[in-house]
Amino acid sequence: MISQPNPSTYKAVRYDQFGGTDVYYIADVPMLSPEPGQALVRIKAAGINPGETAIRIGTFAMQYPSTFPSGQGSDFAGIIESVGTDVGQFAEGDEVIGFTNNRRSQAQYITVDVSQLIHRPANVSWEQGGSLFVAGTTAYAGVAVLNLQPGELVVVSGAAGGVGSLAVQLAKNKGAEVIGLASPANHDWLRQKGVTPVAYGGNTGQAIRDAVRGRPIAAFFDTFGHGYVDLALELGVPKARINTIIDFAAAAKYGVNTAGNTEGANADVMRDLAGQINDGTLEFIVERTYPLAQVKAAYDELDNRHTHGKLVLLP
Ligand SMILES: NC(=O)c1ccc[n+]([C@@H]2O[C@H](COP(=O)([O-])OP(=O)(O)OC[C@H]3O[C@@H](n4cnc5c(N)ncnc54)[C@H](OP(=O)(O)O)[C@@H]3O)[C@@H](O)[C@H]2O)c1
Repeated sequence: MISQPNPSTYKAVRYDQFGGTDVYYIADVPMLSPEPGQALVRIKAAGINPGETAIRIGTFAMQYPSTFPSGQGSDFAGIIESVGTDVGQFAEGDEVIGFTNNRRSQAQYITVDVSQLIHRPANVSWEQGGSLFVAGTTAYAGVAVLNLQPGELVVVSGAAGGVGSLAVQLAKNKGAEVIGLASPANHDWLRQKGVTPVAYGGNTGQAIRDAVRGRPIAAFFDTFGHGYVDLALELGVPKARINTIIDFAAAAKYGVNTAGNTEGANADVMRDLAGQINDGTLEFIVERTYPLAQVKAAYDELDNRHTHGKLVLLP
């Protein structure tokens, strides 16, 4: 087979200022070439995450400064086009799942260190692999810090979202009994996973008490914020067994855990998660895909905050 030369430019999501989804555009940017220890990957799928919205609107401008034009995205899966020297077991043509911390994955190509790649297992789709990193590693680290024991009760808020839908299953797989807070439309899916669904809104605390019928709640994984850490404390959950991935003010106030993407961000965790999806232990839902050019529409949907699983861009 005669391989085609790479184009001199490729398409990538960019924005030039903080703002709403109108700031997005697709730019033609110069082609990359891999340095030693790196691979050039042609991206087949790239996930989107609420944290990118927070960065785009400027919420994290102090903690995680932006430079413009800014690229976007941490999750991706694709095919290695070429490699630099010293890339170990990776080679041209390999199908890979990867991650970047450089806001660059929503694009047709990326160069990354091969330590940020794993090989794609056959039963993990491009869309699943391409959206695994942020949600997967966050759910993994957030469940791990709770140290769940078989039979213990754990409550997960945002139980059907990108992080929550994985977290409830990881907690179940540790033998915990899981209460999942979600809209009624997601209750059947939660029941299928062996999770007891509870609707939020109204008196959520009482609804949880009714569901647990007097048994102690050992742990709480908050993926939504807006008062769930306070609720966990009201329900008698010890601080050491509460984890929030979004309410950092409550975490600072009460000293609860904030284990998430930073703690889980490595290839070993990615390999473990991809293996569980591959063998069917973990269901990873991709709700919808969008062409790269429809990045604005994809984030408009994400920003409604009712995604079940993941939304994925296809470059
Ligand atoms: N710290 C970290 O490392 C880290 C990493 C990843 C994500 N995050 C943050 O964690 C959060 C979750 O991320 P994600 O990707 O899972 O988001 P997502 O996919 O957008 O999840 C949205 C979920 O929130 C639920 N929800 C909406 N309104 C709610 C309410 N009033 N009360 C309770 N739940 C409500 C929705 O439930 P229904 O559809 O059932 O209504 C939906 O399941 C985001 O804020 C994100 O920025 C942090």
